[in-house]
Amino acid sequence: MALLDINHISYQVGAARIIDDLCLAIQDSEVHVALLGTNGTGKSTLAYLIVGCESYRPAAGTIVLAGRDISGLHIHERARLGITMAWQEPVRFEAISVAHYLTLGNKELDPELYLNMVGLQPALYLSRMVDSSLSGGERKRIELTSILALQLKIAILG
Ligand SMILES: Nc1ncnc2c1ncn2[C@@H]1O[C@H](COP(=O)(O)OP(=O)(O)OP(=O)(O)O)[C@@H](O)[C@H]1O
Ligand SMILES: [Mg+2]
Repeated sequence: MALLDINHISYQVGAARIIDDLCLAIQDSEVHVALLGTNGTGKSTLAYLIVGCESYRPAAGTIVLAGRDISGLHIHERARLGITMAWQEPVRFEAISVAHYLTLGNKELDPELYLNMVGLQPALYLSRMVDSSLSGGERKRIELTSILALQLKIAILG
């Protein structure tokens, strides 16, 4: 059984069929490096359907996580089951340091461990602010750090 099974899903907005009969199986511990497609082919829409963003429900087909049909669950219910995504535009918060941001959900977390995983030196980044003073790539890495720290089942990187 695949960890995530997307079975014949379709998604439509008005008369526009944005996703048509798509199937995809992701195995446990599998890393899908990239989902390629030209602009407007539906990559972000597929991500929103998987994480369950508001109003993104398949018109047909099912999304099954570890044998459980999650197609009708809300985004917070899917998050609890271990699915999240990083948005196309990386995070940016005013007046929150990297150390504070990474430990918001878990005060016990060792942010240095996770910063090292994404190639950012803790001494240089822990007290930086998660705002526009960080480059886009640095903010993406900080966001990836927070996702790694959550130890999820499925992480979609937009
Ligand atoms: N609410 C909507 N109404 C009409 N069209 C929509 C709506 N939402 C998405 N679309 C269209 O669906 C298509 C897929 O959009 P999506 O954002 O998934 O593309 P993408 O593959 O992520 O593109 P990009 O590479 O530019 O990020 C686009 O043509 C978009 O304009
Ligand atoms: Mg997109």
